[in-house]
Amino acid sequence: MTDNKKIYIETYGCQMNFSDTEIILGILDENGYEITEDVNSSDIIFLNTCSVRENAEKKIFKRLNELKKIKTRKKDLIVGILGCTAERLKNDLLEKYDIVDLIIGPDEYRKVPALLKNRRETGEKGIAVVLSEMETYDDILPFRKNGVTAFISVMRGCNNFCSYCIVPFTRGRERSRNAGTIVREAEELVRSGVKDIWLLGQNVNSYRCEGIDFPELLKIIAGKLPGVRIRFITSHPYDLSDKLLEIMAEHKNICKYIHLPLQSGSDKILKVMNRLYSAADYLRIIQRARNIMPDVGLSTDIICGFPGETDDDHKKTLDLLNEIKFDSAFTFAYSPRENTEAFELGDSIPSEIKSERLKEIIQLQRNISLEVHNKMLGKILNVLFESRSKRSDKQLMGRTDCNKSVIIEKGKYEIGDFLDVKIEKVNSATLFGKVTGITND
Ligand code: 5AD
Ligand code: SF4
Repeated sequence: MTDNKKIYIETYGCQMNFSDTEIILGILDENGYEITEDVNSSDIIFLNTCSVRENAEKKIFKRLNELKKIKTRKKDLIVGILGCTAERLKNDLLEKYDIVDLIIGPDEYRKVPALLKNRRETGEKGIAVVLSEMETYDDILPFRKNGVTAFISVMRGCNNFCSYCIVPFTRGRERSRNAGTIVREAEELVRSGVKDIWLLGQNVNSYRCEGIDFPELLKIIAGKLPGVRIRFITSHPYDLSDKLLEIMAEHKNICKYIHLPLQSGSDKILKVMNRLYSAADYLRIIQRARNIMPDVGLSTDIICGFPGETDDDHKKTLDLLNEIKFDSAFTFAYSPRENTEAFELGDSIPSEIKSERLKEIIQLQRNISLEVHNKMLGKILNVLFESRSKRSDKQLMGRTDCNKSVIIEKGKYEIGDFLDVKIEKVNSATLFGKVTGITND
């Protein structure tokens, strides 16, 4: 049964895409496919793609050109483009890239086995890009590599239509998964050794299923899984409720970490971005969160060089970053995306100015992160270790409850350990420390 059934998949973009890859592999595993991490020995290569900025797509086109070499060697190799770029470009991809055999959008993954079979049997190229208002894949068992950390998607799609964003077009309308199936999946993960669960959604605040909203979902999961860390991403500032903050504060095992994209510090730009909040509204949420959770970890996303952004608007973003002092920020230069509302505004900020602004924001945030980290020197923090460090096999990398990366010497400690660590050294990205105690169970 394993003839021509070795599948290799590369994932680009956000955690939601990584979670989708696990769903795709779950479907293929059920259908007798063998999952490989070796691109050269595979019979099928899938790229699960991202469209959020032009650069993300350029990476994929470059990768397709590289894959041509493998396809020349191996005539019956099947190449598939899945995910957001498949949804955005549809047929154009088949026309432009000869080596592409299958195009499959985010709501059509159930069709993957049939499309593969059809390609083999008839030689026809396949395309499936219909968006659904219902699909949540809630009966699919994702194929996960055993680990300490696991993702569970709780809702899909987005109805917010921020004026710059392609996601509502590539991932369709919001829909939420049934709470019962989420809880069962979480319980199963914990039985298999998972200790840190990330609940995912484009905007988790919009989660609603059979009368259960997101704070209630969190409360149910946190109550059923004591000793397991529960986190979530992403929240939109527009509808982040007090109820959510209160439930976070009430439960020890809900991580005190919020990723809350700000995008800009200028009310004028926020309005054209269709973000539905002002800088003052955003500040109020941060103050409320810090009032009830003094050590809450906060990160954000910023876009610079949005059409019409003046030096003054840019300064407002810098000022707000200075005032809030996020733990970290993901910063992007504006990239026009066809079909979005902002696309009609053109791309008025020259790329040199965008780069300068980007550099300035990154430098400022680096200083702020260092300042925040310096305050952690000497503190003892509880850390869950999740992998070997990227730099050295002799070190372990873990995360604090508020999502800071911490490195220790491995010694006798193992991945999966909860350890108390005294912070002895910091830089703007990472904390380094020594173990002072073990808190496993
Ligand atoms: N250009 C630049 N950045 C973008 N993002 C979304 N769309 C664009 C775009 N067109 C950023 C936002 C979002 C993050 C996931 O990507 O900051 O929060
Ligand atoms: Fe990229 Fe957005 Fe799609 Fe995630 S949802 S893969 S960030 S375009």
